[in-house]
Amino acid sequence: MPKASQATWGGRFTAVPADLMLQFSESVSFDRRLAPFDIAGSKAHSAMLAEVGLITAKECAAIHGGLDAILAEIATGTFTWNTQLEDVHMNIEHALTQRVPAAAKLHTARSRNDQIATDMRLWFKFACGVLREKIANAERVLLAAAAANRDLLIPGYTHLQRAQPVYLAHHLFAWLEMLDRDRARFAEVADHANWCPLGAGALAGTTLPIDRELTATLLGFTDAKGRPQVTQNSMDTVADRDGFIEFATACALLGVHLSRIAEDLILWSSAEFKFVELSDAFSTGSSLMPQKKNPDACELLRGKSARLQGNLHTLLTLVKGLPLTYNRDLQEDKPPVFDSFDQSALSTDVLAGVLGGLTFNRERCAAAVADPALLATDVADYLVRRGVPFREAHHAVGAVVRLAEQRAVPLNQLPTEAVQQLHPAFGPDWVESFDLTSALAKRTGTGMPGPAQLAKQFTRWEKLLK
Ligand code: ARG
Repeated sequence: MPKASQATWGGRFTAVPADLMLQFSESVSFDRRLAPFDIAGSKAHSAMLAEVGLITAKECAAIHGGLDAILAEIATGTFTWNTQLEDVHMNIEHALTQRVPAAAKLHTARSRNDQIATDMRLWFKFACGVLREKIANAERVLLAAAAANRDLLIPGYTHLQRAQPVYLAHHLFAWLEMLDRDRARFAEVADHANWCPLGAGALAGTTLPIDRELTATLLGFTDAKGRPQVTQNSMDTVADRDGFIEFATACALLGVHLSRIAEDLILWSSAEFKFVELSDAFSTGSSLMPQKKNPDACELLRGKSARLQGNLHTLLTLVKGLPLTYNRDLQEDKPPVFDSFDQSALSTDVLAGVLGGLTFNRERCAAAVADPALLATDVADYLVRRGVPFREAHHAVGAVVRLAEQRAVPLNQLPTEAVQQLHPAFGPDWVESFDLTSALAKRTGTGMPGPAQLAKQFTRWEKLLK
């Protein structure tokens, strides 16, 4: 396109932008992915213009036909994008104008400022839906891994020290809780995005008799009862980037969860733990050490989370201190959210792949959980059941642990007489505290790792993830 015909805003200019300026200010290289949403917005806007009599039904039909043809070309890759036309909006409008004379009326009562806000709100609703599906898929794979290893016990850890025994499934269900909160969070982000900006104009609305509610309804910006939802302040509408920050926050937090799951798996797959073997499909080898099998997928999940946090930080910094309303700085809001979406989508799929290839090492898990010291708290509970105040019981069991260490025997091998000397409430049945099965069975309260609770959680997740 000849530079001199900057059709969109060139009227008051006598010289064209420098090539360097065009290169600097274009966004079509990254905002072209908004084309389907931009076209949906233009179709709704023009339908509304026809409805209120600002364009004729014929003009509207011509605009719709032109937009559909452009969308088809974009989908098949035959559309020619031009960076000299700055952004997705001007590329599409320019192409439409070349085909349809009525296109010159399309931008009536509209600014790129409310247009980009609309495109992005539509995109957020789409992107949240995609991520919710992907997270649900990873959750289903996780549930299957829990089901396949239902009876397996492992130590639970605090401070990365063996703490108390839990079913492996209980640990996996902790991951499920994290992921399910992410899924819910994306639903909230989509909900917050569900308000139509069109009609805000550049910042002060329009003098023309438009019907904002109609446009909102046509675009699906509606509440549960189908009532249109339109933004309530024209200045806030074009300045607001909360949705971007909320979306990036949800991605960053998802990334934090993926990184913690990944870290557990990295530890568990090391020779030191050896609780689990990762599939070859999601591991890599070393170019130097032939024996190595590295958990690169998990390490990248951990690494990507840094990038997701960086994107959030970019957005917060971009908006901080920015005067109302729209400023061109805001064009820089899109690369970080697109990157957060792409990397979150990819990472969630990879997590599902990793989880689908886990093989747990039953012997190593059993050996790790066999240490009777993991049930020291249960011994204290034994004393509590015999009327000993917990602090006193804790102290007494501490002395028992010390004695076992001095004698270099496992905790449950101490003779009853020896522990009775440390506290008179110990009876001969104290060793029963070390029975793993009954220790777990006693943990019956909601959210606890006992088998009855675990069965309930299996039922709950199976229902939720159906
Ligand atoms: N490409 C622009 C952006 O992403 C669209 C809005 C442009 N508005 C303007 N007044 N230059 O921010």
